[in-house]
Amino acid sequence: MSYQDKVDKIRQDFQARINSLKLTDSSLEELRVEFLGRRGKITHLISKINEVSSKDRPVFGQLINQLKQEVNDKYLELKTRISTLTGEEVPTISDPYLPGDYFPVGSIHPVEQTTQEIKRIFASIGFSIAYGPEIDDDYHNFEALNIPRHHPARDMQDTYYISDDIVLRTHTSNTQVYLMEQQKPPLRYIVPGRVYRNEAISRKSYNLFHQIEGLYVDRNVSFAELKGVLEYFVTQFFGKEEKARFRPSFFPFTEPSAEVDMSCLFCGGKGCSTCGNSGWLEILGCGMVDPAVFEMVGYDPEVWTGYAFGMGVDRLTMLKYKIEDIRLLYNGDIRFLRQF
Ligand code: PHE
Repeated sequence: MSYQDKVDKIRQDFQARINSLKLTDSSLEELRVEFLGRRGKITHLISKINEVSSKDRPVFGQLINQLKQEVNDKYLELKTRISTLTGEEVPTISDPYLPGDYFPVGSIHPVEQTTQEIKRIFASIGFSIAYGPEIDDDYHNFEALNIPRHHPARDMQDTYYISDDIVLRTHTSNTQVYLMEQQKPPLRYIVPGRVYRNEAISRKSYNLFHQIEGLYVDRNVSFAELKGVLEYFVTQFFGKEEKARFRPSFFPFTEPSAEVDMSCLFCGGKGCSTCGNSGWLEILGCGMVDPAVFEMVGYDPEVWTGYAFGMGVDRLTMLKYKIEDIRLLYNGDIRFLRQF
């Protein structure tokens, strides 16, 4: 057998051994000893290089060194493969009846829970959902809603002005105007969103809060329908046992206007500090869309009629969960939020 044949033979042997090798530390070590060890096949053949004629020696020397390199590379490759295999923790389940790992999850903020509930109730009776801007121009927040500048009605809502003409919206009613500017009737929407008022912060009021506006415009819409829809809402949201009342009121953009009060759930209607001893808490304002508003958005008030309402989501949340201080909804205390 020529030197070259011997080199080739070792390569074949090695390949055959690899193909049937068990990937364990000990069999890999055996393999290393067999080929690369002090008495290994390759080491042995290298020691025989001086039996080759000095003319052929450089060529064969290169061949055997190359084989040694190949075998060594393969050996190292297999060694790392084994160590990653065993280094990885193999999951074992000691007791399949143990509860799974606990992943801490957040909870849905109570105001958001109320919003979702209200959306669900109105969606079930055919209302779509729309959103409007929180930073808005004076026109959409006031002017188009029949509240001109210097009109005393502006005092109803203390406003944050960003500039002379730009405000943080004081109510979601601004979106009524956008909806009517952009679409022809009939339309039926609710509009959830944040609103802002420059008010002193106290147990009962915050300078940021949430409203859900409602708007329905069609031919021959009646006040009785408005009443029916709101009664439906109140019973769905609070249940049949809780009492609500309609009370005449005033808003520049509705005529006639009303407010809905809930019997105070903190004192059962007897009168307490939360309801100002009246036994009632206001939850929403509403009314028939004022013809002046229809004219502003280019609807013919002789043809179209509609109702609108705006409810305080924070108020509803406080009533439903008996939260007596609105600031709890905004200071992010995790001990409070975890209860929902
Ligand atoms: N925008 C009024 C408010 O914030 C509520 C309201 C909405 C009243 C729609 C009537 C109709 O107080």
